[in-house]
Amino acid sequence: MARTLILGGAGFIGYHLAARLAAEGHALTLVDDFSRGRRDGEIEALCARPGVTLVQADLTREDALRDLPARWDSVYMLAAVVGVRNVETDPARVIRTNTLALMRLLDWLTPEAGMLFFASTSETYAGGVSAGTVAVPTPEDVPLSVPDVAAPRFAYAASKILGEAAVIHTARARARPSVIGRFHNVYGPRMGADHVVPELSLRALRREDPFRVYGTDQRRAFCHVSDAVEAMVRLMATPAASGRVVNIGNDTEETLIEDLAGLVLREAGFAPRLERVAAPAGSVARRCPDIGRLRELTGFVPKVSLEAGVRETFAWYRLRHEAEARSR
Ligand SMILES: NC(=O)c1ccc[n+]([C@@H]2O[C@H](COP(=O)([O-])OP(=O)(O)OC[C@H]3O[C@@H](n4cnc5c(N)ncnc54)[C@H](O)[C@@H]3O)[C@@H](O)[C@H]2O)c1
Repeated sequence: MARTLILGGAGFIGYHLAARLAAEGHALTLVDDFSRGRRDGEIEALCARPGVTLVQADLTREDALRDLPARWDSVYMLAAVVGVRNVETDPARVIRTNTLALMRLLDWLTPEAGMLFFASTSETYAGGVSAGTVAVPTPEDVPLSVPDVAAPRFAYAASKILGEAAVIHTARARARPSVIGRFHNVYGPRMGADHVVPELSLRALRREDPFRVYGTDQRRAFCHVSDAVEAMVRLMATPAASGRVVNIGNDTEETLIEDLAGLVLREAGFAPRLERVAAPAGSVARRCPDIGRLRELTGFVPKVSLEAGVRETFAWYRLRHEAEARSR
């Protein structure tokens, strides 16, 4: 039975990864401090399965991993403080958590621990896209940069740039297998309320009219979480991926934010007046990964269309919205 450790396992991507691996019979340990992940019915049901263990711990603490076994087949490092709201309100926490939790993990991992996956982000190179020096669709080997180290918004990107360097150099120094996945706009059920797809869905469910849409002319390539999980699992099973940075996303589903809003509103059966609002400062006009490396290494092909993924995600948020309305 494969033994898998998922740090940040109660979060959005962590939960979906865990659900998939549990269904495949992995022995799983999930670690999370529940600062963002929820101890809800879904996580309780997952953790009630045989072979699944949940540990509540703050990974920035030195002793967080002390009582866990040293031997794993795979370790996924997904724990981080994410989201524009967190970054704007408490950039110091973002830097501290995202770097310290990773450094403690790298110090703790022994030679018996298997392949490490580190979750990075397209934000690491977004500064270059805004400056016009990085092409879109973007391959992995572009310069990483933050346009203004003092701007709170870039604290997240800075923490992940450091994280990538820490994983690469530590892996080389200790001859440990590891792979860095740079996620690009992963979406799906259970992703909280801060990202664009749930945010639009929740406002559509509340019948906001006029309906605000931020950055209508921006373009994004959204990747359904089941495709992202498939890519991660494939990378971890590919020895040639070790030591590589690999984009994870869906390059076939690029869309205008205005069209995304249209899809959500169609699912909601709602036709409000659109109020077009400028995009938040510092967000790139276009984001789309070049996933050639992921394809070449793993044969990955994204399967979930934006339309099907938005339908499923909207339906999940509708159920929660209706349950909340009944309990009020
Ligand atoms: N969702 C995306 O589109 C996306 C894009 C780029 C990068 N990523 C990266 O992927 C990873 C997972 O993202 P997600 O969308 O699932 O976010 P998420 O917030 O849902 O998951 C992160 C989890 O980490 C936990 N956590 C935070 N600080 C912790 C600490 N000190 N100790 C223990 N647990 C802690 C949170 O409670 C949460 O459950 C993150 O590292 C994120 O930076 C995600």
